[in-house]
Formats: sequence, C-alpha cells, structure tokens
Amino acid sequence: MKKIVVLGGGGFIGGHLAKRLKEEGNFVRICDIKDHEYFVHDEICNEFIKGDLTDPVIVSQVIDENIDEVYQLAADMGGAGYIFTGNNDANVMHNSAAINLNVAKESVHKGVKKVFYSSSACMYPEYNQLDPLNPNCEESSAYPANPDSEYGWEKLFSERLFLAFNRNYNLDVRIARFHNIFGPQGTWKGGKEKAPAAMCRKAAEAKEGSEIEVWGDGQQTRSFLYVDECVEAVIRLMKSDFLGPVNIGSEEMVSINELAQMAIDLSGKDIKIKNIDGQEFIDKYGFKCPTGVRGRNSDNKLYKEKIGWEVSEPLKAGMVKTFSWINEMVTSVSEIESNPK
Ligand code: NAD
Ligand code: GDD
Repeated sequence: MKKIVVLGGGGFIGGHLAKRLKEEGNFVRICDIKDHEYFVHDEICNEFIKGDLTDPVIVSQVIDENIDEVYQLAADMGGAGYIFTGNNDANVMHNSAAINLNVAKESVHKGVKKVFYSSSACMYPEYNQLDPLNPNCEESSAYPANPDSEYGWEKLFSERLFLAFNRNYNLDVRIARFHNIFGPQGTWKGGKEKAPAAMCRKAAEAKEGSEIEVWGDGQQTRSFLYVDECVEAVIRLMKSDFLGPVNIGSEEMVSINELAQMAIDLSGKDIKIKNIDGQEFIDKYGFKCPTGVRGRNSDNKLYKEKIGWEVSEPLKAGMVKTFSWINEMVTSVSEIESNPK
C-alpha cells in the first residue's frame, strides 16, 4: 500500500484518478480548494483536506513525510470559454504557477518518491495548429514555443520547473500533456465546461425541432480522450521509467460540428446546429468568440514507444456514457427548478 497525495482531487480527472488509486488499496489523501461536486469523498479518498494550494503553509501540511507519490492536477483551468477570453489570464497564470512552485519545492523538502505533473496540449505552438486537417502535436514540436494562451505558457513554464527540480534535486517526475479529457463527473455548466460536456448539455436541454449554438464555424478540429483511459495512461506512465513530457490523448480527430452532431444524435431529437462567430458573437457576449487553435490532435507515437500501451476506446463510446450522465444532471436540475421546496 502506497501513501499517495492527489492535488486537485476535488476536480474532474483528479477525482477519477484518486478513486482508482484508492480502489487499488492505496492510502489516498486529496487536497482541493473545494469539495468534489459529484463523488462522495469516502468513495475517492481516505482523507480530504480542503485548502488553498497557492499557500505554501497548506502545501507543507498536505505533503508530509513518507509520501510515495504526489499527483499534481490542481490548476485554475477551464474550457475555451474560460481560458481563451483573456479575462482570466492573470488568475490562471498566478494561481497555477504558485501551486506548482510550492509543490515542486515541498516535494523535494519532504523527500517525495515520485511526482506526476499534468501539463496540457495547450503548450504546443499555435503555428503548428493552423491547418484543421493536419495539426502537429508531436512532443518534439514544442519549441520554438508559441502557445496561443497564457494558460499554455504557464503549463510550459511548469513543465520546465519540474524538469529543473529533477536535474538539480533528483526529484523523480513524470509529465503528461493531456489532450481534452472528457467524461461523467466533470464540469458540464457554468462557463468552465469543455466542448464535449457543452455539446451534451446543449443537446439534452434543447427542445425538439430547435437549434443549439456551436462557437466558431464548427470546422475547427480536436480529439477527446475518455477519462478512464486517461487515468490508465497516467498510472502506466507513473510505473514506467520515462519522465516525459509525453502526450496523453486520443488520435481520433473530429470537427466540433461532428462532435455536436454526435451529441444531437444521442439525444434522439431533431435539432439543428447554429454556428455563431465574428461580430454576431461579440454582439451577443461582449468578447471575441473563444475558438482557440484551428486544429489539434494527439500524437501517440512516443507514448506507445516508451510505455508500450495505447488508448483504444472510440469517441462515440465515451460520448454515450457522458451524454447519459449529463442528461441525468439536466433532468435533475429541471425537476428541482419546477418543484422548489
Ligand atoms: P478541474 O478544474 O476539474 O480540476 C482542477 C482542480 O484544481 C479543481 O477541483 C480545483 O478546485 C482545484 N484547484 C484550483 N485551484 C486550487 C487551489 N488554489 N488550491 C487547491 N485546489 C485548487 O480540471 P481537470 O479537467 O480535472 O484537470 C486536471 C488537470 O489536468 C489540470 O491541471 C488541467 O490543467 C490539466 N488538463 C486537463 C485537461 C482536460 O481536458 N480536462 C486537458 C489538459 C490539461
Ligand atoms: N467550451 C465550449 N463550449 N467550446 C465550444 C462550444 C461551447 O459551447 N462551442 C464550440 N466550442 C469550440 C471552442 O470554441 C473550441 O474551438 C473547441 O470547441 C474546443 O473547446 P474546448 O473543449 O472548450 O477547449 P480546447 O480543446 O480548445 O482546450 C481544452 O483542451 C486543452 C487540452 O487539449 C481546454 O480544456 C484546455 O484547458 C485544455 O488544456
């Protein structure tokens, strides 16, 4: 049994990861600034510390002696509607960088055996993601750096931070670059949700014969990895002797309109897609349409070569589970609204 700390375990991926690590018989301590909204704490950990990891005192309490593994997933993050509007740049950079600075230093100080850091595909340069049908996200393409968001720059900085602690202080680190992870028990409303959850919610809420709004022209591309496969890939990376950074994502690239159509088909309703972009978007929301890079797809060659495993679940299978969960959430919210106490 290992003693494990999951930072950001009150969030989407951290919650799923902590649950799996606990089920495997480990002692799991979570720290997050908020409770998990969709998991009961006993289900995912042995101990839940509610605290702000930008505070070094909290980090020194959470990372105590004899910790085998720290999984660092805490970050100020969200989907395109949060990280590409420009309105949250200062907080995203300050909060996430402060957490990572604290965690790297305290992990050395307390002699943590191994640290996992969750970076993002958002650190890849924009110039390689202009062609929606042919983006390049090979790990070796990271430099010269030019991420299109401050969120991406912070991730790149923190990758380098953990690698520097590895070189100078022998901190044993593993770094993954996640490509849009989705699934149940994740953010599905409120402005921080990513495209798969947003499409499922919009389709679940829409009336028969109506239309749903999809940002941009819908031809921008992405790939999406189901959360269980992400967790499996993280655990395998941690067991390997490869430091990374390495992509963890799916290579099944789709356009955002194709993703939206998948959610519509799962709803079983006759719903049309309405793409909203340019001045129409600005007039409605007061800021430029947050579309991010034009194309992005994971490149899994390095992961396969170094870890010897590959993700295999088709997008559709993950979307079936995600739509079903979000549909339940939408139904329960509308029941509460129509039957207030
Ligand atoms: P999430 O927002 O659900 O989880 C992050 C958690 O960090 C949240 O629960 C949040 O409350 C916590 N947190 C934020 N600030 C904190 C603070 N000051 N102190 C303590 N806790 C704090 O996001 P997620 O989708 O689970 O992502 C997990 C990690 O993976 C993040 O680092 C994210 O940047 C990275 N990532 C995620 C994706 C994705 O598609 N989900 C893609 C690339 C990278
Ligand atoms: N969120 C959202 N909501 N996106 C929408 C919507 C909507 O209603 N409609 C269309 N989109 C478009 C966005 O404009 C963007 O072009 C695309 O769908 C994907 O949006 P997201 O899923 O929100 O984000 P992303 O893929 O650009 O970036 C995400 O993945 C990164 C890793 O690959 C974010 O979660 C980042 O935080 C993450 O690091």
